[in-house]
Amino acid sequence: MKKRFKAVSFIIVAMMFLSLLVACKDNSSSGGGSGGKSSKVSVGIVLPTKDEPRWVQDEQRFKDALADSEYTTEILFSQGSSAKEKENVETLLNKGIEVLIISPHDGEAAGAAVEAAKKDGVTVIAYDRLITNTDAVDYYVTFDSVAVGAAQAQYLVDQAEGTNVPLYLYAGAASDNNAFLFFEGAWSVLQPKIADGTFKIANSSEAEGLKDKAELSRDEMSKILGQVTTNWDPNEAKNKAQTHLTAAGADLKGNVAILAPNDGTSRAIADVFATDGDITSYVISGQDAEKASIQYIIDGKQSMTVFKDVRTLVKDAMGMAIDILDGKTPETTGTYDNGSIEVKAKQTDVIVVNQENVKKELIDSGYYEASEFTGL
Ligand code: GAL
Repeated sequence: MKKRFKAVSFIIVAMMFLSLLVACKDNSSSGGGSGGKSSKVSVGIVLPTKDEPRWVQDEQRFKDALADSEYTTEILFSQGSSAKEKENVETLLNKGIEVLIISPHDGEAAGAAVEAAKKDGVTVIAYDRLITNTDAVDYYVTFDSVAVGAAQAQYLVDQAEGTNVPLYLYAGAASDNNAFLFFEGAWSVLQPKIADGTFKIANSSEAEGLKDKAELSRDEMSKILGQVTTNWDPNEAKNKAQTHLTAAGADLKGNVAILAPNDGTSRAIADVFATDGDITSYVISGQDAEKASIQYIIDGKQSMTVFKDVRTLVKDAMGMAIDILDGKTPETTGTYDNGSIEVKAKQTDVIVVNQENVKKELIDSGYYEASEFTGL
């Protein structure tokens, strides 16, 4: 009798434990307050994808910032899909959010999701990437994306020796408004150096056709992006680099310069150029200070990255959300024209990192631990 009672009570305890486990596990992460599935969430956070280290950085920094917050939050990923993004926003609206912090997968397509939020009286904060051609965006927190592109290009200019240095251009996804801001900044620095013969364009007939034009229209940039976009996908970047090097003659090899839009694509492109015997040396840009790229920089396989301190972006976004929840008007430093309205914005500066200052900017600042790298 006693043995059977023990067995039954064990099964009951096991079942209770199992249901608890199931209740906690899904592709979101909720922080602060009482959390859990059914309960109200004050601030909903939607990020583009978990498949890129950049956004996993942001998730971790949000969690760090919210660890002992009294406000309930939930972070959802859109996995590179605008449909999933809309579903995520609806999930959060059903949980009663008052503020939505969202970095769109596709700046234009995200309009529908934020318009639904607006209809529910939710305040919308665009995060890092702008949502375009809708008035359903209240605030925007971001880094100076034009300065990112200008810094990447300036690094290539500073390292260039002689004339006719082959210049390989790569860009971000055209669905991402930032990709145009990065390229605008890069072109503003590179174009005069193409016009004066320091660089010769190696992989884009559209850019070649526009080389005497200091300022490009969005359409003109779209044409160039159409040829050199990586869609933020390292595999696509790798394939494009292989195609470009296969097509390149000896005059486009030797010592070259490469504009790579972010770290993930930069490592993929660098690996291709490093295996081409006719490439004597390459200087390549990057962005996001991903751990793997910091190691590449220490090892001399990537030349630089543009560090965007995500801790600041998270602090600004959550600061705005808490002001809004407290009925206050958030502080902003300027506006961005999103094609429909002037969106009130708060912008943070960026930092160039290379072998010389990697320890100061990323270890001494507490962003990463020295133990995460070799050869520092
Ligand atoms: C951009 C973002 C970058 C970059 C990229 C790829 O919008 O500003 O930091 O990583 O997306 O996701």
